Amino acid sequence: TPMLMNGKATLIIGLASLATPLGNVPRGGKEQGQITEMIRPAVILSEGKISRVLDEDEAKALDTGDYEIIDGTGMTLLPGFVDPHTHLVFGGTREDEFSMRLRGESYMEIMRKGGGIASSVARTREATFGELLEATRKRITGMASHGITTVEAKSGYGLDKETELKQLRVAKRLNEEGTIEIVSTFMGAHSVPQEYKGRESQFLDMLKNDVLPAVRHEGLAEFCDIFCEKGVFSVEESREYLKACREMGFRLKIHADEMSDLGGAALAAEIGAISADHLLKASMEGLRQMKEAGVIPVLLPLTAFSLKEEYANGRRIIDMGLPVALGTDFNPGSSYSYSVPLMAALACLQMGLTPEEMLTALTLNSACAIGRGDKKGTIEVGKDADLVLIDAPSYRFLPYHFGVNLVAMTIKAGSVIYT
Ligand code: NIG
Ligand code: FE
Repeated sequence: TPMLMNGKATLIIGLASLATPLGNVPRGGKEQGQITEMIRPAVILSEGKISRVLDEDEAKALDTGDYEIIDGTGMTLLPGFVDPHTHLVFGGTREDEFSMRLRGESYMEIMRKGGGIASSVARTREATFGELLEATRKRITGMASHGITTVEAKSGYGLDKETELKQLRVAKRLNEEGTIEIVSTFMGAHSVPQEYKGRESQFLDMLKNDVLPAVRHEGLAEFCDIFCEKGVFSVEESREYLKACREMGFRLKIHADEMSDLGGAALAAEIGAISADHLLKASMEGLRQMKEAGVIPVLLPLTAFSLKEEYANGRRIIDMGLPVALGTDFNPGSSYSYSVPLMAALACLQMGLTPEEMLTALTLNSACAIGRGDKKGTIEVGKDADLVLIDAPSYRFLPYHFGVNLVAMTIKAGSVIYT
């Protein structure tokens, strides 16, 4: 539970530096690398918001007496990290499949044999609300310790009405607890459950006619997502399904062109999705259409790492002018990790991002990918006081001191959620 400061404004002092992108809109192309860095600044938080950012001289002149003090001596202050793509709520784990993959079996082979998502579906269906709540709360604590202050969470391990709603209600409850902000996505179209094998379109109709109205009625999700992939849902099925979701008032996301170039990127552009995610195999033409339509590419290097796939070409995508966002894809199968430091290193070393572009991808662009660009993702007056203190003199240490968690403190809405 967040530690509440007793009504006073909070002052963060002693900082070595502060680094942030600026604004409310996604930054691509040359703008993605534009980071504002301040040396020895101070920051004041009040009522959950950032209320003042002081330069070195202003910081020195300030009377510190009236404030609750956070001592950031020698540290760097960054916007809280936003993870725009996770499958957060699930029962059980799949370490057995990890070993199978180490022995050479592929993720899709395991899935075709009835493992993969289906095994997590079975474990999630049998888990009680309380069990899921407890398991997910632990993950949130882990994320907070890695500097994550907002996380998107997809359902999709129920594939039936009752379990999908159970997953989304767990996310809602944990959001109300207030540690990390949780933004929910309905992803009933994650896989075709056993009982609907060979009846894909009937399954999607069931989601549209029965589950989606319930999700909307309870206010359980803002976004809808679908796994558009060879052997899962086709482009045609995805188009029809997502259009129905849009008509019901949901904003759209797509798992696009991960294992094969099916045309998911182009579909995201056509239907005006807020983001298209994965994109390992996306064509130049598909990406170009995404740029035209303002669809944000969410890249997930931890998944490529874990599946030993080739990484999405982040460098090229930014050079085309698109604003790259980064997510963990945290899930029990293809990416059982919320290691921001590993993701930061892979983004720079394997996808060709500069440290500045990587920082924008972790903060402003990822906030925009879940519709939070106006509230989160930068250190500016008026934005939510979601911040992370790293024990290093500069943001450049994030990829340079690779794989090491540098987070000393995480602050969400002005309250310390990890130290
Ligand atoms: O984003 N691609 C589909 N869904 C997840 C994996 C889910 C799982 O294996 O449980 C992903 O990689
Ligand atoms: Fe995913």
